[in-house]
Amino acid sequence: MTKSTATTVRRSAAPLTEQRAHEIQAFGSVLPMPIALAEDTRRASADNLNQLVADTITLRDLYKKHHWQVSGPTFYQLHLLFDKHFNEQSELVDLIAERIMVLGGVSVAMSADVAEMTIVPRPPKGREEVPVQISRLLHAHEIVLEEARAMARKAANEGDDGTNDILVSNVIRTNEMQVWFVAEHLVDAPLVRADGNGAG
Ligand SMILES: [Fe+2]
Repeated sequence: MTKSTATTVRRSAAPLTEQRAHEIQAFGSVLPMPIALAEDTRRASADNLNQLVADTITLRDLYKKHHWQVSGPTFYQLHLLFDKHFNEQSELVDLIAERIMVLGGVSVAMSADVAEMTIVPRPPKGREEVPVQISRLLHAHEIVLEEARAMARKAANEGDDGTNDILVSNVIRTNEMQVWFVAEHLVDAPLVRADGNGAG
């Protein structure tokens, strides 16, 4: 009878905490993924989408900041609207990040890394007036829309239809709709008495 060379593993109910090991995939790398897209195409899309997810996470968090810090007569409607847009941006973040993983890439995730990557300007920690809050949101939306359109065209040209679809159907259309809802709050329209209606 031969003696087994297998090591006996003693199991325990104790949790094995504080484990650390090397990364299994480096940020910026692309693994083989059998989705019939060339590695160069998947790498280009993943790199672009990482910039987009960093900017979308920042825009999402800008909405939550303004949801908490909004003030004035439109407090309630903006408090609710900002949170609705935060939730819609959260869904976009998940879609974009998971598309990066589908392509074989690694999605940026943590706020410190996002802060290094985003091109959306950093707001102050303190509170700002509603018109300033809204102006910041519109500027961030325009950054996202400009880069998303360029990325969508590039993805389409390279045959990455899945990425193009997410960019056009989800990212661009959601951001355009949110811009409309937010921008209307900067129209200087009378609340009670119509302009020119006081003569008679
Ligand atoms: Fe809330």
